[in-house]
Amino acid sequence: MDNLILAIESSCDETSAAVIKNGRQVKSCVISSQIEIHKKFGGVVPEVASRNHILNISSVVGEAMEKAKVQYSDLSAVAVTYGPGLIGALLVGVSYAKGIAAANNIPLVAVNHIHGHIAANYITHAELEPPFVCLVASGGHSHILYVEDYMKFEILGRTRDDAAGEAFDKIARVIGLGYPGGPKIEALAKEGDDAAMKFPRVEFADAPYDFSFSGVKTSVINYLHNAEQKGTPVNSANIAASFQKAVTDVLTAHTIRACLDKKVSKVVLAGGVSANGALRESFMRAAQENNLELYYPQPIYCTDNAAMIGCAGYYKFLEGNFADSSLNAVANLKL
Ligand code: KG4
Ligand code: ZN
Repeated sequence: MDNLILAIESSCDETSAAVIKNGRQVKSCVISSQIEIHKKFGGVVPEVASRNHILNISSVVGEAMEKAKVQYSDLSAVAVTYGPGLIGALLVGVSYAKGIAAANNIPLVAVNHIHGHIAANYITHAELEPPFVCLVASGGHSHILYVEDYMKFEILGRTRDDAAGEAFDKIARVIGLGYPGGPKIEALAKEGDDAAMKFPRVEFADAPYDFSFSGVKTSVINYLHNAEQKGTPVNSANIAASFQKAVTDVLTAHTIRACLDKKVSKVVLAGGVSANGALRESFMRAAQENNLELYYPQPIYCTDNAAMIGCAGYYKFLEGNFADSSLNAVANLKL
């Protein structure tokens, strides 16, 4: 009999539900984005996000079930993101999933959002298996992980301050591009020269896989202030391209270093920033030079979605690792 998991994701500004068959096959994936709502505030407003999840969740889950053409009685389990993320937003999905589990007497599987981002790759690449080194770069996280097995992870490096996506969003705001910054910086950078300015690439002698993006952010802001004081015109496309190059250079260098040290043959990208074309190209070159196989999810599964949660949930389900009705959301959940 097929394993069918209904998955729910509501950790930030996307309300999403998906039905996953046998772990890696997407029967349906519905994503209701709140980007248009949060745009006017220049970023995600947590309370507004929670309220919109409440408004959307029922119809998003209903649509996912309908599109997949499955009945609640067909489900093997319901999987839900319980952290990390915005606490009020997470609680909407967790409460809804608990209700479905209780009403249909099926297991509840609690999924870590970062585990979900990694699992997005299992959907796109049916043949991909651990071990590998994975860069998870999103709006909330920048981690280099050694994925030893489906449920076994080692954190090799992390950001000491801003996440990579957060840096994209902040720089987009200071150069007047609006939210969300990543895709807008990427588009503008195509018209610019990535060698026009040299923004910092931070290295830590004692932690070769760690990141810091606050320096590059301050450096861009200082550059803009200086130009403003002197009354010199700024070339936003050059700033976008040079900033993007500074970030993609360190993401690539540190991740490849981790691959070589861990002696893996596969390098995997995940999270919203892995949708970035310049980052993918940088990794393609580095992977080729170092004889590594490169994997990244198709764009729709890079940013937040429930399909990746269903896939991660499947591997937890196989372990028999179920949550009960006492499950709570954990805003700063660790991997
Ligand atoms: O994974 P995600 O949807 O949410 C979190 O878990 O945080 O990632 C969203 C982040 C945002 O910061 C967004 O600006 C960034 O991913 N992002 C990109 C691109 N598309 C999304 N950053 C760079 N280039 C892109 N094309
Ligand atoms: Zn995410």
